[in-house]
Amino acid sequence: MINIIVATAENGVIGSGGKIPWDIPEDKAYFKKITSGGIIIMGRKTFEEIGFPLPNRYNIVVSEKKNFCGENLRTAVSLDDALEIARIHAEENGNDEIFLCGGEKIYRQGMKYAQRMYITEIKGKYDGDTFFPEFDREEFRLSERICICGGKLSFCIYERCL
Ligand SMILES: NC(=O)c1ccc[n+]([C@@H]2O[C@H](COP(=O)([O-])OP(=O)(O)OC[C@H]3O[C@@H](n4cnc5c(N)ncnc54)[C@H](OP(=O)(O)O)[C@@H]3O)[C@@H](O)[C@H]2O)c1
Repeated sequence: MINIIVATAENGVIGSGGKIPWDIPEDKAYFKKITSGGIIIMGRKTFEEIGFPLPNRYNIVVSEKKNFCGENLRTAVSLDDALEIARIHAEENGNDEIFLCGGEKIYRQGMKYAQRMYITEIKGKYDGDTFFPEFDREEFRLSERICICGGKLSFCIYERCL
């Protein structure tokens, strides 16, 4: 199944100057819990910001310009190529949870494929230059919302219904 996972501020900001504009341990732990054991697909800029392949996940980086490879690390030349590599890996390894992990370019191209979206909503507006795209609330239905940290964070799950 293809999932999206993202943390977004109230104004849709997800990034600023190539970085995530907050540091929230609870959200990092949630990301790790949800994606562990799965296949993660990310844009080259997001991968370079992280700086290394995330452990216990099969990492696929989308890039036309650069080639990263290593243990549990592959490069794809397009999002479609990344999804094909992910499907082959899933078939061979029996875990078909694929996560599109950003940034904005990957979310914009990948939303049409997503069956489920894990969206951490962060209270407040942030300055930034990258955004999570608007999505059609008739296409995705909210199935779960868990608020923590006194409402500062909400872990939301949206399921595709159209
Ligand atoms: N809040 C969150 O949950 C979250 C999650 C992830 C990232 N972020 C933030 O998002 C920002 C980065 O987003 P971004 O949109 O600027 O960059 P990005 O999506 O991370 O990476 C863009 C790069 O990916 C490659 N790419 C994307 N689509 C491609 C395609 N169809 N074919 C070939 N290559 C493709 C290109 O690499 P080449 O130029 O090498 O060809 C492109 O320059 C950062 O600030 C990051 O911190 C936030």
